[in-house]
Formats: sequence, structure tokens, C-alpha cells
Amino acid sequence: MSSYFLRLLLFLTCLVAATRSTCNVCNSVNKMACYSMTQTKVCDANNLPSGAPFDCPPGYMCVSGSGGVLCQPKAPSSNVADCQDCNKCDASQTFACTGTRSFALCLGTNVPQQSRGNCASGYVCNNGIKEICELATSVNPSCSTVDDTTTTTAPTTPPTPSTNDAAAYCAAVKKQGNFAVGEFTETTCRQYIQCSLTNGKWVGKKYACAGSTFFDRTVGQCVTNKPSYCYTPTTNPPTTTTAAPTTSNPAAYCAKLQSQGYFPVGTNPKTTCHQYIKCYQLSGSWLGKGYTCPGNLYYNSSTKTCVSTLPATCSDRIESISLNGVELE
Ligand SMILES: *[C@@H]1O[C@H](CO)[C@@H](O)[C@H](O)[C@H]1NC(C)=O
Repeated sequence: MSSYFLRLLLFLTCLVAATRSTCNVCNSVNKMACYSMTQTKVCDANNLPSGAPFDCPPGYMCVSGSGGVLCQPKAPSSNVADCQDCNKCDASQTFACTGTRSFALCLGTNVPQQSRGNCASGYVCNNGIKEICELATSVNPSCSTVDDTTTTTAPTTPPTPSTNDAAAYCAAVKKQGNFAVGEFTETTCRQYIQCSLTNGKWVGKKYACAGSTFFDRTVGQCVTNKPSYCYTPTTNPPTTTTAAPTTSNPAAYCAKLQSQGYFPVGTNPKTTCHQYIKCYQLSGSWLGKGYTCPGNLYYNSSTKTCVSTLPATCSDRIESISLNGVELE
């Protein structure tokens, strides 16, 4: 190969790398930046994108190149839009950047999972690097600040009100009908709370099912056959139903995750990075089992194997990671 060709190849590679990873980076040619794949922003005196974004016309995308930041036609040209690496899983299927400082785990797939990770302060997410988060002073984030504002955290489900006080329960539930009280075969599984709206106020009353019948929450009435979820408590009620779904409680973790397979436990290189959890379903219930990799091996969430290299998720560049709302330890 001639050295000219090599240089050309290097130049083209750099060009592609440069255009693909810029997002919110001011182009010195026309002092503008791509704010998203289809939006531009004007840069201020401090060389930072500012003010309201401008939309490219339909069929156009934002490209930062040697001619400055311009809206250029999409197909069929070979134009590559800026900001396009956002929400895309990296080559190793480990993570996808979802905002300038946030990411999601991909767990060995090409789809960002229900997961939220945050880079430590001063770091940004770039999906072209193995480390996930890199110093903001040395790389550009793969996502734009526009992605930060559109990232909504999963809605938190309000805590289920206690069934001890029927009136308070109905005031919180605000729904007409019959509701289950609990799951103990001989006591709460035979009771229900009836909520109704009377003179604009929610009122509730606790009732016992007639005879030896049980209250079935799926049909909302008393039935003769014992529902499968009713159980006889031993000395203590099972911890799985009340314990917080942390990874130190695999069953509760899997019940919240609602997904079959192997999952990472945490981000601590000394402890939780060596561990993983297997979630599975048995007769309708989610169960979990915790494992530790042999020797000094670490759990790799993308290959789902125990490996000798420290995973990128186990670094103090990472502030936190959650999966389906469960915070990894
Ligand atoms: C998991 O292993 C793959 C293949 O060795 C590697 O590319 C990837 O970066 C590893 N994942 C993490 C989280 O380090």
C-alpha cells in the first residue's frame, strides 16, 4: 500500500470518527453546533451552544463538517448526522449513552434495557470508549443536552396503602369496589374491603367472606376455591414479599425485574462485581438465586460470563446503575 493511500484512509477514518461523535460541539467555521440529529444551535462568545434550537427542514439532518454545521439532505447522500450515537448500544453490547452523563446497560443485546446509569461528576458518557464514562475535558458526550431534558425517570409507583385501616385505604385508592386485604389463608385471605364514594367522600369498610369462602382478588369477590396466592404463615411472614428488592434479596430483585436470565449485582470491584443473579419463574412466581464467580473472576453483564478483566461498570467513574428501578449495589 502506498503511504498516500494510508494517509487518506487515516484521514477518512478521523473524519468519520469526528463527525459521528460530535454533539453540542461548536464548529469554528460557522460558530454553530448540532444540538440533535435534526437540530442546530448558535454558539455564544464562550463557544457554547446557546439559545433555542433550530429545526432542520423535513428530510434534512444536522452535519458538522469542514463546511461548518449545516442541515444536509438525508438519504441518498453519504452524509452522517451528528449526535447519532445516542441511545445506541456500543460494539460490545455493554451500554448505550442516553444523555450526556447517563447510560443504560444493554446486557448483551443491541437494545438499551430498562436501566439507568450515571457517570460520576466531571465525566460524560461516550459510547466509542470501553470505559463508558470519560473525563468531560477529554471526550465529547455521545448524546446531546437535548437528550438530558427528554430523559424522564421511570414513574415511581406510589406505595400501596395498608389494608389495616379500611377508611384510609379507600381514601388512598379512590376506587369503587371490593379489594383484597391480605394473603394469610386463615385470616386476611378471607376478608375484603369495600370502597364507595358517599357524598363526595371515600368510605371503606372491612368484611369477612361468608362461611369458609376466600376473597379472590382476581375476580373481586368471595369464592369457594382457595386462591393460589393464599398461604399459611409460618413463624414469620415470608421475607420475599415485604423485603426491599435489592440485589442482596434475589427473589425480591427478580420479582421487580420480571425478566428471566442472568443479571449483574453491583459496581463494587471488591464485592458485588464478582456476583450475579439468576432470575426465573416457578409456577407463576419470580424467584432469584445469587452466584459468585469462581476465584477472582468478575461478572461481565454483556457476555454473561465470568471474566478476568474488570468490567467497565465497576469503576469509580460510574456513580450509580439501576435495572428496572432496582439500584445495583
Ligand atoms: C464484557 O466483555 C466484552 C468482551 O470481552 C468486552 O468487550 C466488554 O467491554 C465487557 N463488558 C464490560 C462491562 O466491561
